Amino acid sequence: MTSILILNGPNLNLLGTRQPQVYGHTTLADIEALCHQKAAALEIGVAFSQSNSEGALIDMLHAARGSHDGVILNAGAYTHSSIALMDAIASIELPVVELHLSNIHAREAFRHKSYIAPVAIGQICGFGAAGYPLAIDALLGHLRANA
Ligand code: DQA
Repeated sequence: MTSILILNGPNLNLLGTRQPQVYGHTTLADIEALCHQKAAALEIGVAFSQSNSEGALIDMLHAARGSHDGVILNAGAYTHSSIALMDAIASIELPVVELHLSNIHAREAFRHKSYIAPVAIGQICGFGAAGYPLAIDALLGHLRANA
């Protein structure tokens, strides 16, 4: 069975109460439930995780190799700073979809730079929590096209 890892970075554990005017009122637990529903409908496996630590995210990316077929990554602010996450993605040879709730290109200039984008198969941003099921569809389409 196809299996994907959905990985969430720093401060995303605070969704629901964190700047709701930017990120909405949906909690990370709500998003996880949405992803499990979507995965069940598509008959794929999904693992969902969050960490505020860059090293823990890198460890989870390394562990994904061999246990998952692809990754959806909302790296939070590490998107804009982490060469280490970029290197990890380049090293694991798994397709990664870059995901953001907000439209990072319509926000502050420092959010326009993504270290994830050059090593991702594509980017989805600006659709709030609905971006997660969109990303699952996108990753699955990629995996099926490249099977
Ligand atoms: C975010 C966008 C990032 O710029 C920000 O630092 C986040 C959340 C998003 O989902 O919109 O923490 O990744």
